[in-house]
Amino acid sequence: MWEYYSDKTILITGASGFLGTAITHSQLIKRWGRSLPESDSSWLLNLESVTVIDGDIMKKDLGLPPKILSELRKEVNIIIHAASTINLTYSLEQVFEHIVLPSESLAQMALGFSDLDRFVYVSTAYANTHLYKCSSEPQTEINEEIYPLLGEGKLLHDTLLNAEEARDQIKKTGSSREFELHDFPWSYAYAKHLTERLILHLFKEKGWVSKVLVIRPSVIGPAMRHPYPGYTVPLSTPSTALATAIVACHAFSVVVPTRCTYPETQATIDEVPVDVVVDRMVAHMALNTTGCVHAVGGENNRLCLQDIWGAAMELRRIPWEPRIIWSSTTDWHSPELHPALRLYVILGTAFIFTEEKTKALWNRLSPDERQDISLFSIYLREIIL
Ligand SMILES: NC(=O)c1ccc[n+]([C@@H]2O[C@H](COP(=O)([O-])OP(=O)(O)OC[C@H]3O[C@@H](n4cnc5c(N)ncnc54)[C@H](OP(=O)(O)O)[C@@H]3O)[C@@H](O)[C@H]2O)c1
Repeated sequence: MWEYYSDKTILITGASGFLGTAITHSQLIKRWGRSLPESDSSWLLNLESVTVIDGDIMKKDLGLPPKILSELRKEVNIIIHAASTINLTYSLEQVFEHIVLPSESLAQMALGFSDLDRFVYVSTAYANTHLYKCSSEPQTEINEEIYPLLGEGKLLHDTLLNAEEARDQIKKTGSSREFELHDFPWSYAYAKHLTERLILHLFKEKGWVSKVLVIRPSVIGPAMRHPYPGYTVPLSTPSTALATAIVACHAFSVVVPTRCTYPETQATIDEVPVDVVVDRMVAHMALNTTGCVHAVGGENNRLCLQDIWGAAMELRRIPWEPRIIWSSTTDWHSPELHPALRLYVILGTAFIFTEEKTKALWNRLSPDERQDISLFSIYLREIIL
């Protein structure tokens, strides 16, 4: 599997971020050293083989000078697009400007790369959180596929084509019909949904759709093993930020929206170690998986809010414990929600992100390849409890 990378030039956006650092440092550079024959790895490990480019995804062609651009067009074989705001408070207009337009523009730029083999878009498993409100079941199952949205009250089957229309509506009016017809917990989730479709549409038109891999991590958490156990960037690790908010919360009670009958045990959060995200990405890229792939902790690794809550209470120094008021009538967007928990409105939900593509890929790996890769997380509850 690692041979696939031996002659490839990879352009990573967001390489300085939480996930980007793990991709660049631990999984590619170090792993090349462990997994390739010295003749192959020595030039890769030479720092001259890594070029830092100061680009801005909000600018056309990353704001790069023509000389660098023309080199990239000739040299790059794989683009991993991980640069993104992860600000859940951003409005639709803000995420449109920071996520949707720059990602579409990067995808357009990629179509001019003569030797492009793969385009990887880092999305989020929560891009389909609107499905929660489309059913009344306590658990919402989400598959590794593109879910069509409604437009003017009808289910739009050619959801890729429709993406362009939605993008134009937002440009013109600041919103889109499909966004208004669905209930996403944050505009960020819808922006990722729309971006997935816009990228796939562009590549489909060019006849390159099989080059696209959409990686959808759930909540990314500290590393199991690489770059080192516990590696994290606190502001990019949502459960660390949540635990901090709970530890410091001055309220006597907090409202959490839910429709679970027994939310203490039924409401769950899917967290995945950052190195599992990277390993899934690297393996699926090499073995030519196309379309959407979940990078998640999985059904048996989900945490209950009670688990995080209990762990946070042990660290808390404020002499009372806020009471959780589970509410079936409070909306995700209600001002009744405590500001600290407003970002985490999905705490009372339960999503099952299926991971069939990774299970199938695991069966294709040799015993040696399995030794060297963490495609599944260990039981996170055991660490926390
Ligand atoms: N963290 C999570 O729990 C989580 C969960 C699901 C999906 N994701 C997705 O995973 C990807 C990586 O997230 P992360 O957690 O690594 O976020 P992060 O730590 O905030 O890193 C974001 C990266 O994007 C770069 N960036 C932001 N705006 C940019 C711009 N205008 N031009 C160039 N680079 C820009 C940042 O560079 P500077 O620091 O130089 O600005 C940084 O390197 C994102 O697509 C995110 O949506 C994250």
